[in-house]
This record gives sequence, C-alpha cells and structure tokens, in this order.
Amino acid sequence: MSALASVKTVWETKLPLPLVGRGKVRDVYAISDDKLLIVTTDRLSAFDYVLPNPIPFKGIVLNQISVFWFDFFKHLVPNHLITAQVSEMSLPREIVSEFGEDLKGRSMLVHRAKPYLVECVVRGYLTGSGWKDYLSNGSVCGHKLPKGLTQCAKLPSPIFTPATKAESGHDENINFGEASKIVGVEVAEKLRTLSTQLYEEGLVHARSRGILMADTKFEFGEFNGKIILIDEVLTPDSSRFWPADQYEPGRDQPSFDKQIVRNYCEEIKWDKKPPAPKLPDAVIQKTSNAYREIYERLTGEKI
Ligand SMILES: Nc1ncnc2c1ncn2[C@@H]1O[C@H](COP(=O)(O)OP(=O)(O)OP(=O)(O)O)[C@@H](O)[C@H]1O
Ligand SMILES: [Mg+2]
Repeated sequence: MSALASVKTVWETKLPLPLVGRGKVRDVYAISDDKLLIVTTDRLSAFDYVLPNPIPFKGIVLNQISVFWFDFFKHLVPNHLITAQVSEMSLPREIVSEFGEDLKGRSMLVHRAKPYLVECVVRGYLTGSGWKDYLSNGSVCGHKLPKGLTQCAKLPSPIFTPATKAESGHDENINFGEASKIVGVEVAEKLRTLSTQLYEEGLVHARSRGILMADTKFEFGEFNGKIILIDEVLTPDSSRFWPADQYEPGRDQPSFDKQIVRNYCEEIKWDKKPPAPKLPDAVIQKTSNAYREIYERLTGEKI
C-alpha cells in the first residue's frame, strides 16, 4: 500500500448550507448575503472532464496557492479573502465538528462580491487557442504580433485577452471594446492594467522558482464600491504552468501538473468522451507529488 493511500481525500462536500455552485473542482456555499465559503476538493479535470479519482493534497495545494498570492499581491489590489482558518470562520459548531476535517486547509471564507462578467485572461506565451489564432491570422484576440513567432514563444510583452464569463459551456474570447461594453470603459481599463501587473509580478516570482506561467485567468468583483480580486489566483487550474528547465519554444510544452494524467489518457487511447478513465495508483501518486512540488516551489514551504 502506498503512503498516499492513508491520506484523507475530499471528493465532494455536502455541508448543510445553501450551495451556490459546484464547479468541476470547487464547491461554493453561501454563508450570508455577503460571505461565501469556497471549498476546493481533490477533483481533477483533464480534457474538460472530471476524472473519477481524487488526487491527494490537490485541493489543499490549490487553496493554499491562492492564499499565498492574495497575500503576495495585496500591495496591488484588495482581495476577497477573509480567512482560510476554519477556527476563524465563525461557522456553526455542528458544521465544524462534523465537517471540520474536510474543510481544513482547503476552504476559504470570502467577501461575496458582484463578479464582473469578464474573465481577465493574460497571455505571456503563444500557446493554446492563442497559437491557433496566430497561425490563422498573425494575431491573438486582435493583438497584432510580430511575424515568425514559434509555438510557445515568449510574447514581446504580455497581452490582455478578455473572455466572456459563460454561465454554461465555453467562455468566448472578446476584444477590449466588447469587454468595455460589459463592464464600462473605465473598469475595463482598470482590469486590464491590474491583470497585466499581477501576471507580470507573478511571472517573475514563479520564474525564480523554476516555473513558467504561460498564461492565466483572473476574476474581479465589485465590493463596497471597489474592485477586488476574487476566485482563485495563479493556480494550476487557472493558469498554464510549465517546468522552466524544460522550456523549448517550437513545440508543445509539458505541463507541470496534468502532464502525467494527460500522458496516461493518451497511452490508453481514451477517446476523450465520458466516462473518463480510472487512474492507476502510480499515476495518482505522481500527480499528487507534482501538485505538492508546485506548492513548495512557489511558496518555499512544505504542505
Ligand atoms: N468573492 C466572490 N464573490 C462572488 N463570486 C465569487 C467569488 N469568488 C469566486 N466567485 C465565483 O464562484 C464561482 C466558482 O466556481 P468554480 O470556479 O468552482 O466553477 P465554475 O467556474 O462554474 O466552473 P469550472 O469548473 O469550469 O471552473 C465562479 O463563478 C466565481 O466567479
Ligand atoms: Mg472557475
């Protein structure tokens, strides 16, 4: 039996609180009109499907990475985090006694904001849909780029490529003008400036720890008349993380977190249609280790 087999995982939480949403990875509850409880589970999605096995430590890693960045960026922008300590959440005693262990390390009490309905994507490298866009017309979401860039090349400077926040289905890329129509020009400009600053500062830090963040998505909301950073920040679920020492433009890059799972799915020739395949223990173990390594590199602490 591997050492990980004894680690408690959390697949899904069933707290006796109003469920606001269950994403692929996170369960979100209403605590009151102005507070939410966000629980990051150990679910993992690949190729847009949730795989059937929980990944030990993954939810804790993701939650703690956001906690780390909220603090790291507090000089640039206020954020939604009230506390990530269960004991400070003023939860009903029954909830703490019954579910406290499930919440520990993987939950956040946050200010409930009015989310701006624009996903703030920043890209520093030419990959994913950006690469496809560039191949077909030499630009990415309307940003004209120099000729002759190769796959995964570093862009001359990061670009802001907002997307709609679709209630269901895929988010759609929009240009700055369309984003301005949704949130107003003044807010759109602020979101663009903030997102780019956050990405650039985050990139420098992560790069110094051997991680390249190719691109990412931020979410902001309005709270007490101010713009605050909400949701998750620069996690492997909201960003592409590449191992810096294996970076080589001109080809696809291995992913720091999901590559092991992706390779396995390709190896068994999964057709990427449900049901998603069960993962062998070795794949689960390696993936769990990869998540922990990301946390330890970024924060310099052990999980
Ligand atoms: N402080 C906040 N105030 C209000 N809403 C928030 C806050 N923080 C996060 N949210 C919202 O909570 C939701 C979190 O959901 P989550 O990311 O788990 O699932 P999803 O985005 O619907 O789906 P997916 O699994 O594709 O990510 C998002 O809609 C996000 O905008
Ligand atoms: Mg989300």
